[in-house]
Amino acid sequence: DVQQTFYEAVGGAETFRKLTARFYEEVAKDDIVRPLYPEEDLGPAERRMRMFLEQYWGGPHTYSDERGHPRLRLRHQPFKIGPIERDAWLRCMHTAIASIDSGTLDDAHRKALTEYMDMAAASMVNSAF
Ligand code: HEM
Repeated sequence: DVQQTFYEAVGGAETFRKLTARFYEEVAKDDIVRPLYPEEDLGPAERRMRMFLEQYWGGPHTYSDERGHPRLRLRHQPFKIGPIERDAWLRCMHTAIASIDSGTLDDAHRKALTEYMDMAAASMVNSAF
């Protein structure tokens, strides 16, 4: 189907659930990224990330129904995000992407997802150090 979204092409809700679950597993173990999260429970953050990514890639728009316009740079202002935090965040995300098997995420989709994450993480940097 030529109209198929990226979201559908990579397996829909199940794939985004696995990706964000693994991402937050990595965050929980990361001494640089974990302390930035104000909440002890990472569950709500995981859910917001999952809804955001699903929406971005053509899935349900539950994120904006609940949270409004993403305004991600603004929402990240309270956290100091320099090159070290960016790289640590990306390490977690690259590990999460690598955990999705090649039957679910083929090379082209994997590349698109990785390039988006690299770009998005770079755009969230709000500190020179
Ligand atoms: C929220 C850290 C990059 C998407 C948050 C929160 C923290 C955080 C501490 C608040 C936790 C919460 O929602 O309860 C970081 C760090 C980054 C980073 C250290 C380093 C580069 C990104 C990127 C994206 C993203 C690249 C998107 C691809 C989100 C979303 C939320 C969020 C969707 C929830 C926003 C909302 O409140 O609706 N992030 N983040 N973050 N982050 Fe990040």
